[in-house]
Amino acid sequence: MSILVTGAAGFIGSNFVQDWFLDSDENLVSLDLLTYAGNLKNLSCLQNNPNHHFVKGSIGDEKLIARLFKTYQFRAVINFAAESHVDRSIHQAINFIDTNIVGTYKLLETARFYWNDLNKELKKDFRFLHVSTDEVYGSLEKFDKPFSETNRYEPNNPYSASKASSDHLVRAWYHTYNLPTLITNCSNNYGPYQFPEKLIPLSIINALNGNSIPIYGDGQNIRDWLYVKDHCNAIRSVLKNGKIGEVYNIGGSNEKTNLEVVKTLCDLLDKIKPLENGSSYADLITFVKDRSGHDKRYAINATKLEKELNWKPAETFETGIKKTIEWYLENSEWTNQVINSDYKNWIQKHYQ
Ligand code: NAD
Ligand code: TYD
Repeated sequence: MSILVTGAAGFIGSNFVQDWFLDSDENLVSLDLLTYAGNLKNLSCLQNNPNHHFVKGSIGDEKLIARLFKTYQFRAVINFAAESHVDRSIHQAINFIDTNIVGTYKLLETARFYWNDLNKELKKDFRFLHVSTDEVYGSLEKFDKPFSETNRYEPNNPYSASKASSDHLVRAWYHTYNLPTLITNCSNNYGPYQFPEKLIPLSIINALNGNSIPIYGDGQNIRDWLYVKDHCNAIRSVLKNGKIGEVYNIGGSNEKTNLEVVKTLCDLLDKIKPLENGSSYADLITFVKDRSGHDKRYAINATKLEKELNWKPAETFETGIKKTIEWYLENSEWTNQVINSDYKNWIQKHYQ
């Protein structure tokens, strides 16, 4: 038996795969299309592990996926593969429709055909776990209750709309075909291997390079931050003990304004790597034009996961952000590799 992890060369997928092998010797196939956000270096520590198999390809390639199911007899699929960056979805949404909606549909169908032919025992134990986001619930006002699993879906940007669509498909494949699915909706992640187009790694890297740190609007938008390893741990719990057909929200109860996040990491950098001229990294903070349709606040109520599956995060925001900064300081080679001409073009186009 083995498991299939899609989007495994991305930020969360690669953390998940690395952590998986800390206490498992089960075969695992990492599938990734290696888009601009995927990076084989994220999995390089596993290159001599005989139980890890990397395959380059798309979740939308039914022939390839069917072949992988036949060869490896997966007992579970964990679907991380997605176009994941809100700002890119605003510039150009087509890849989000193709991968997040059509790709998920094709993966579901290929999994269903394989699952249909399994014997009773294997059929019962099979799982299709779809990794999704809290952004499908839309935006909260300051005093609204955090999102619970029963909140209405109200996506506001092309990325969250495409993820919402994929969640609906997964739900329908459970109710219509009995495919044993699970859905997780997690808040904003941060940690090692995050591509520097997202707020935290972008701010760290810009600060270290002496470039301005762009804050959209007034910096008062709120996100609920979770260290990536805690997200991966929650996914392992849901895969093992989650009830089929259910949805689990994942979050660390770490609500912060964007300005607070950036100031915290500037303060930490001031301590860990003080600037020679005695100034603070916070001097680099620059307020820029706001994002269109910018969701005001996200916050997660993770009580269901905590009570039913006994999950709780290991890191606070303070411990997690320190680990993250240290990782970026120790891995400048990784950063220099991802800051290629494509990346530079994106930054120039987006922040011009
Ligand atoms: P990421 O962009 O870093 O990684 C996505 C990976 O998917 C990349 O390696 C990319 O190459 C791959 N990919 C893209 N299209 C593909 C396709 N058609 N077939 C196969 N692989 C493909 O994103 P991430 O931050 O690691 O997010 C992973 C998942 O978690 C996504 O589904 C995202 O919606 C969800 N999520 C992310 C966060 C967050 O804060 N980053 C929070 C909650 C949920
Ligand atoms: P981001 O990391 O893109 O995640 P998401 O949009 O999925 O929440 O952005 C996190 C928050 O930071 C969001 O409110 C937008 C804001 N932001 C900035 O202020 N400046 C930036 O340069 C970026 C990339 C994001």
